[in-house]
Amino acid sequence: MREKKWWQEEVVYQIYPKSFCDGNGDGIGDLRGIISKLDYLKGLGITMLWICPCYQSPMDDNGYDISDYKQIAAEFGSMEDMDELIKKAKEYGIKIILDLVINHTSDEHRWFKKAVSEPESKYHDYYIFKDGAKEPNNWRSVFGGSVWEKIPDKDEYYFHAFGKKQPDLNWENRELREELYKMVNWWLDKGIAGFRIDAITFIKKDLTWSDREPDGADGLAKCTKASRNQKGIGTFLNELKENTFDRYDCVTVAEAPGVSYDELDEFIGDNGYFSMIFDFRYADLDIASGSEWFKRISWTIKDFNKKIMESQMALQKYGWGANFIENHDQPRAATKYLKENQNNPDAVKTLAAMYFFLRGTPFIYQGQELGMVNFDRKDIGEFNDISSIDQYYRSIDEGLSEKEALKVINLRSRDNSRTPFPWNNEKYGGFSKCEPWLAMTEEYPDINAEKQMSQKESIYSFYKDMISFRQNGAYRDCLIYGDIEHVESSENVIAYKRYTDDISIQCWFNFSSETVTEKIGREEIEVVWENMQEVEFKNGYLILKPFQTVLFR
Ligand code: GLC
Ligand code: CA
Repeated sequence: MREKKWWQEEVVYQIYPKSFCDGNGDGIGDLRGIISKLDYLKGLGITMLWICPCYQSPMDDNGYDISDYKQIAAEFGSMEDMDELIKKAKEYGIKIILDLVINHTSDEHRWFKKAVSEPESKYHDYYIFKDGAKEPNNWRSVFGGSVWEKIPDKDEYYFHAFGKKQPDLNWENRELREELYKMVNWWLDKGIAGFRIDAITFIKKDLTWSDREPDGADGLAKCTKASRNQKGIGTFLNELKENTFDRYDCVTVAEAPGVSYDELDEFIGDNGYFSMIFDFRYADLDIASGSEWFKRISWTIKDFNKKIMESQMALQKYGWGANFIENHDQPRAATKYLKENQNNPDAVKTLAAMYFFLRGTPFIYQGQELGMVNFDRKDIGEFNDISSIDQYYRSIDEGLSEKEALKVINLRSRDNSRTPFPWNNEKYGGFSKCEPWLAMTEEYPDINAEKQMSQKESIYSFYKDMISFRQNGAYRDCLIYGDIEHVESSENVIAYKRYTDDISIQCWFNFSSETVTEKIGREEIEVVWENMQEVEFKNGYLILKPFQTVLFR
């Protein structure tokens, strides 16, 4: 990466609007709720917000099914609220990026309704329809079942890579693409800083639509091999960029699953389609794939270490990455990565620092800064997320018992991270005055923002210090722009080095509940950051206490 870019310096905080703060007491988070918490966000030290979709939507996939790109969902507020949020955030020095969902719309979008009711209109070709008496092929959608949904009373089907209320847009249609570009620019003109771009590698499909080898008990084959990152996608992505993002000084963060490390140059290189992308390889280290939660994979810290370093090296070779351990599609990081140590604050802090000081822009998901953990739901009826419900029944189809299926879903459910934010220890965690749309995670009387803000040793306070250390500390240049290199360590320790021409900082993280001694090969070290009171260094050996983090130069 040759030139420095402003977005390398950001610390991003992801908001799931439905669950962040309820401003009007109807049990659903909203934009006024977010406005009321700008003080909190500023206090934490973050510089940019990514707000998950808040556009008009029937909410079948909580807003990732948009029925009008230029309206705010009524439950979240109005366009005036959005304008006010953008303006107030700016006053706080906080930038805003929105979610851009342009692989599909809702089936309640006016284009889709017209496509069905007026098949002769131009809107019919905005989506993917096929004639026939049965499904045109055997592909399985990401949320289960065929990718094809029948039009009632007609021998016609439409394609959806995700839920059946999320018909895919036909990117082969130029007029459609141009409508999308206009919409993107309309939002950028409002003064937002850019976009997180949803499922963007899905926009190009294998146009032969041929059957694939079945890979599940349902006789279907996962669609991703034929509808994700297909040949020719670059033409669309370049055109998108040239007609929109390139015309602004904006940042783009792509959700781009299915991209191999060899292809990163095209995606994030100097002339890449995007500023940065999320790499899901280590986020999904415990499952066979993002849509196969029932295929659990056991892993060790060594595996985790290896995956992180491979990812960092690939990103560094071509560009810049978006580092994260949580988001609205993932379970809570403390539970996933720390397992039985999820409630150990030292472990939570070590996990936080390990990913935060990697090379890239760090993303923090709401509640992560409090060390929130997964819930334990007792019945499938308690889940809201469409994907969790699908995965539950698929797991049973694939041979798991109901009990085993529930266990797998509890571990992986996207609802884990979507529970209402615990602001204080009042009823409903101060999130709302009335019963929230989704039940709280049980631990909120202990894990809440108010309590942790008053405690010097809390996870919240640790995040605050850590952010300020990266942003304003003596080593900011090295920690932000410096290169990264793997450092050899013992099996339960992750270590790397961040360095510039002038300075080098080694970062050590002990992920075990035992003391570990590491040979450093140096006479002296100067500790610049740690998560405990003291650091032991003797005769060239660093003695790491259980879950200790040490950064030294
Ligand atoms: C992305 C989103 C996810 C959504 C899906 C379909 O993966 O992050 O929440 O369900 O796209 O839009
Ligand atoms: Ca509300």
